[in-house]
Amino acid sequence: MAEVTLKDVTKIYDGDVLAVEQAGFQIPDESFTVLVGPSGCGKSTILRMIAGLEEITEGDIYIDDERINDIPPKDRDIAMVFQNYALYPHMTVYKNMAFGLKLRKYPKAEIEQRVKEAAEILSISHLLNRKPKHLSGGERQRVAVGRAIVRHPKVFLFDEPLSNLDAKLRVQMRMEISRLHNRLDATIVYVTHDQVEAMTMGDQIVVLNEGKIQQIADPGTLYHKPANQFVGGFIGTPPMNFIETNIVNNGGNPMLGFETFKVELNDQLQSALAKLSGDSVTLGIRPEDIHAGENGVSHSKSQLASYGENRVETHVELVEPLGNHALLYLRTGKNSFVAQSDLVNMPQHNAQITVNFNMDKAHLFHPETGERL
Ligand SMILES: Nc1ncnc2c1ncn2[C@@H]1O[C@H](COP(=O)(O)OP(=O)(O)OP(=O)(O)O)[C@@H](O)[C@H]1O
Ligand SMILES: [Mg+2]
Repeated sequence: MAEVTLKDVTKIYDGDVLAVEQAGFQIPDESFTVLVGPSGCGKSTILRMIAGLEEITEGDIYIDDERINDIPPKDRDIAMVFQNYALYPHMTVYKNMAFGLKLRKYPKAEIEQRVKEAAEILSISHLLNRKPKHLSGGERQRVAVGRAIVRHPKVFLFDEPLSNLDAKLRVQMRMEISRLHNRLDATIVYVTHDQVEAMTMGDQIVVLNEGKIQQIADPGTLYHKPANQFVGGFIGTPPMNFIETNIVNNGGNPMLGFETFKVELNDQLQSALAKLSGDSVTLGIRPEDIHAGENGVSHSKSQLASYGENRVETHVELVEPLGNHALLYLRTGKNSFVAQSDLVNMPQHNAQITVNFNMDKAHLFHPETGERL
């Protein structure tokens, strides 16, 4: 298997569409690296440049120590699985999987052995004589993955391979691809716009927006230490709340004020404020870190005490029960945000409740650049 390195890779289409801007990162050997970001952020373009299907405008791509910019796709030892994994409809599953090897003139016995082995890994041995139209969506997807596996490539590239499947099947295939990764010890680069897929599958996640890398990290770091407001808002459902606040002085201690409320800052957040010159800052807080307390108490008295003065009076605009918890859409003045509540203490629509901000879990972002402070 292999390591892939991108050095300052830029892609400009048709002279003026800047699709990828100076992307530099390493895909470690045997890692499961996910490229994630909204539609049009350049994910497929990066994958296609690695595969050799798209020319690199500037920069270099290496597999291990070899620069591959000028190596034709068929000689790169990379296998790609696309979203529209068109199988050949007139060929059986066996022939679909064997086709690429046949083109490359592998001996018949070797082809047979590889197809059988891949079919077994994917649990499709019993389907080898069927044609694609007699397969379910998930089975077809497995055949498409099988076509890649038989090649024993150095690197697997997956471009949104699950987006044509229904939600349940997607979850199942997600697990299967993760299992496949463990079994093959393969280097996998996986593209998705679905942050849940990224978080559950990737050991390294590259977050992209508008052609630029926003952050490269493991799932835990992305969630708990987003590098900027974009990553904070993109990772996690429902997304992080952002509230524009003013820094107010409370007898020497800075606090954050928004409208009629003030919230306290711990030492760490106070020292983060030193990086600012102005007096406004964006507060980021996830719904699960805003607790419906007091008149809807879901937390013990001592827990509430530890939130200090960080309580906010709000109006409940909407309650969304979700089985094991509820989401509360709250408003205070012009600010609205989402909080999480357990079902027992779930307030009613239109109620006035006090919520507590767990400021130990809060994030501060620069009001103009969106960078984490
Ligand atoms: N062949 C092309 N010619 C011109 N512009 C292109 C071409 N392919 C892609 N683009 C543009 O480059 C940008 C990145 O496209 P890309 O396909 O890499 O996005 P993506 O992140 O894969 O999006 P999606 O999630 O929708 O698949 C987009 O603005 C797109 O319109
Ligand atoms: Mg794409």
